[in-house]
Amino acid sequence: LERTFSIVKPDATKRNLTGKICAMLEDGGLRIIAQKRIQLTLAQAQEFYSVHAERPFYDELCEFMVSEPIVVQVLEGENAILRNREIMGATNPADAEEGTIRKTHALSLGENSIHGSDAPETAAEEIAYFFAGLELVG
Ligand code: GTP
Ligand code: MG
Repeated sequence: LERTFSIVKPDATKRNLTGKICAMLEDGGLRIIAQKRIQLTLAQAQEFYSVHAERPFYDELCEFMVSEPIVVQVLEGENAILRNREIMGATNPADAEEGTIRKTHALSLGENSIHGSDAPETAAEEIAYFFAGLELVG
């Protein structure tokens, strides 16, 4: 089984949608094997999204990610990385398929309710950044 890292983003925690989003992940075949609600610092948000540091939306993205608590998760399942991205839907909710988390819940391209790792290397890095090994209970 593969593992991936996920974040319920501020627009979703603010609207009390954490449970609905978790249910969509579980219904999609993924198991939540670690989860916690945290408040990112600006420095942590900047570090997490450093790959986007040169993008015009970087400052807005980092400010958004610290605007409310987030829920960080480790998901496990068959092809969990790809499966999670299918359940999430396209980055821009306007392009997302019916039934996906972003189509159902996202507000905009920026406020798009959920993050999911995009590759095995980033999944491993992101999991290790937020969780100690003992916190993952598969
Ligand atoms: P993540 O799972 O969050 O990484 O989404 P993604 O892989 O579908 O998108 P990407 O890595 O390209 O961008 C990371 C995040 O930056 C997105 O999820 C959006 O929240 C945000 N973002 C991307 N493009 C824009 C943009 O043009 N404007 C704003 N405000 N935010 C953006
Ligand atoms: Mg991405």
